Amino acid sequence: MAQLNKQRILLIIGGGIAAYKCLELIRRLRDHGASVRCVMTRAAQQFVTPLSVGALSNERVLTDLFDLDDEREIGHIRLSRDADLIVVAPATADLLAKMAGGHAADLATAVLMATDKAILVAPAMNPLMWSHAATRRNVALLQADGIHFVGPNAGEMAERGEAGVGRMAEPAEILAAIAAQLAGRVIAGALAGRRVLVTAGPTHEPIDPVRYIVNRSSGKQGYAIAAAAAALGADVTLVSGPVGLADPSGVRVVRVETAAQMLAATTAALPADLAIFAAAVADWRVANAADEKIKKGAKAPLPKLDLVENPDILKTIAHLPPSQRPSLVIGFAAETENVIEHARKKRKSKGCDWIVANDVSPETGIMGGNRNTVHIVTADGVEDWPEMDKDKVAEALVARAAAHLAATTGKA
Ligand SMILES: Cc1cc2nc3c(=O)[nH]c(=O)nc-3n(C[C@H](O)[C@H](O)[C@H](O)COP(=O)(O)O)c2cc1C
Repeated sequence: MAQLNKQRILLIIGGGIAAYKCLELIRRLRDHGASVRCVMTRAAQQFVTPLSVGALSNERVLTDLFDLDDEREIGHIRLSRDADLIVVAPATADLLAKMAGGHAADLATAVLMATDKAILVAPAMNPLMWSHAATRRNVALLQADGIHFVGPNAGEMAERGEAGVGRMAEPAEILAAIAAQLAGRVIAGALAGRRVLVTAGPTHEPIDPVRYIVNRSSGKQGYAIAAAAAALGADVTLVSGPVGLADPSGVRVVRVETAAQMLAATTAALPADLAIFAAAVADWRVANAADEKIKKGAKAPLPKLDLVENPDILKTIAHLPPSQRPSLVIGFAAETENVIEHARKKRKSKGCDWIVANDVSPETGIMGGNRNTVHIVTADGVEDWPEMDKDKVAEALVARAAAHLAATTGKA
């Protein structure tokens, strides 16, 4: 995870059973090149020792707001500003309440109040504590304040016989959430001078002049990606199927209806440095689409639709000769089962570089919703990103792509 290299993480450890997982988190962060400075609350020290935390982080562990030496050497204000990201794990019910209430009576809460940096919290608590009305209120307040969350997950609690939502996210998930947060912090202009092509929305495949086949894609994720790329200075063309969204500012929008039109518009928009195919292109079209409205009549036979396969836009662009192929081709895989397995196969069969995979079964609410949980499948493996707003997924994806282009094509 290139996003973690040389990043400074301030890890605030709260007083919950899950504190032991922080030891693994610290180790993984350092393996990826991040430096980790830890603040432990008084309660946290009941669960893991500052000695273990200090040994793994290779940094002095800070515990006391009123420690004269620490305050002279680092100071709680500098501590809160020196980091690239502040992570609270485990975020106990008590710590969330203090954060929501603006408390600052100990080092952990004072640092959280004094910071101007992004904060990611990994809650961990008994399911009844998590579902308690007070915690619900505190979480809503913190989310409204812009605090980012990873987890909690559903599952068995450390206490025997207790299960439900409240388990802290696993270290690997927290690591991915940290990487996604840091990827979103790229410098303005990271895509200046780059041409970016994005497809979005569904396609409409006519049955007759008034009827068509469609899918549930809203286009929100693709539009957010186009906006995020434009915000980083790219020259963006968005080829969009029919959606009810406003054009993202600073983006050239080409409107199409069918898959065949989308392929033509996509090809016409080349060359591009980066191509992201977020559209849900219909796999089939009606071969015998009627020129006139098909009439319904008591005596008329039921119409029969002959389906033929549509062109595969992602595969076509990914297989262009190197002189025409975008340097980085990213496809989306919306699946309702075996998401990662299908995405891995799709990456190979389409010849694209990355696949952004997500589970769009109706219970996820992703299709048409504002949030998304994605997995980034590359030649190197799979990154599981936490659930985020589609805007945040877009920012993180585009930032990751910008970093990849800078590293592989030599252009800054
Ligand atoms: C054995 C034990 C386990 C606990 N686990 C949790 C926990 O997982 N989550 C939580 O919110 N509180 C938990 N608590 C309660 C917290 O330790 C307590 O509310 C503490 O004041 C939180 O301190 P903090 O604000 O420094 O995190 C636990 C307490 C005990 C005795």
